[in-house]
Amino acid sequence: MPVLPELVVCHRLTLRRWVRDDVAMLRTAIEQSAEHLRPWMPFINHEPMSDDDRTALIDGWERDWRRGGDIVYGMFADDTVVGGCGLHHRGGPDTLEIGYWVHVDHVRCGYAREVAARLTTLALGRPGITRVEIHHDAANRASRRVPEALGFQFDGEQPDERVAPAEIGVDVGWSTTASTWSGPPVGG
Ligand SMILES: CC(C)(COP(=O)(O)OP(=O)(O)OC[C@H]1O[C@@H](n2cnc3c(N)ncnc32)[C@H](O)[C@@H]1OP(=O)(O)O)[C@@H](O)C(=O)NCCC(=O)NCCS
Repeated sequence: MPVLPELVVCHRLTLRRWVRDDVAMLRTAIEQSAEHLRPWMPFINHEPMSDDDRTALIDGWERDWRRGGDIVYGMFADDTVVGGCGLHHRGGPDTLEIGYWVHVDHVRCGYAREVAARLTTLALGRPGITRVEIHHDAANRASRRVPEALGFQFDGEQPDERVAPAEIGVDVGWSTTASTWSGPPVGG
């Protein structure tokens, strides 16, 4: 399977696959955002993480990506880490799922929406990909607004494991397809 692109240019941000040289930058961004991310992001349970472990994590992401699997991007405004996002093969061979988190100093600037829009267009341009999904816990209002504002279709709610402290254990699914996606709203 062809690999997902390691560099993606958005309107204000650049998405770049995390590499070993980013270990310190990624550590700092997560340290600064830990209490903002803790309610929703289970990966925070593994923090603080040693630089060696983070290097191994990035190496694992790279191996997965090289095999044509998921990609995990840093979101950069110039050299500033604004957050992280990714494309994941969780929903079957024709589907990519978008995940995102935004650094606490950069929330409510429309970055998650900008990135999700760009990744949707990218994903639907990939051979064999006809569907893009976004999932969040029902209590996560900020995350909900991203697919909602982009015009994704609401696919319903189902019971899910609670994996982070603010979650209520209800997965909300949203999707768009090549035939329904018309790009980001004007100004978005
Ligand atoms: C969810 C998250 C990624 C949103 O990032 P963001 O860059 O601030 O989002 P945007 O600026 O693109 O805003 C998208 C919408 O959410 C709204 N929003 C942002 N933060 C919000 C909050 N705390 N409560 C309610 N709405 C919020 C914005 O007003 C905007 O709505 P609009 O379209 O009506 O203007 C960010 O809050 C975050 O990192 N949260 C912690 C990690 C997380 O929950 N990740 C997602 C897991 S599914």
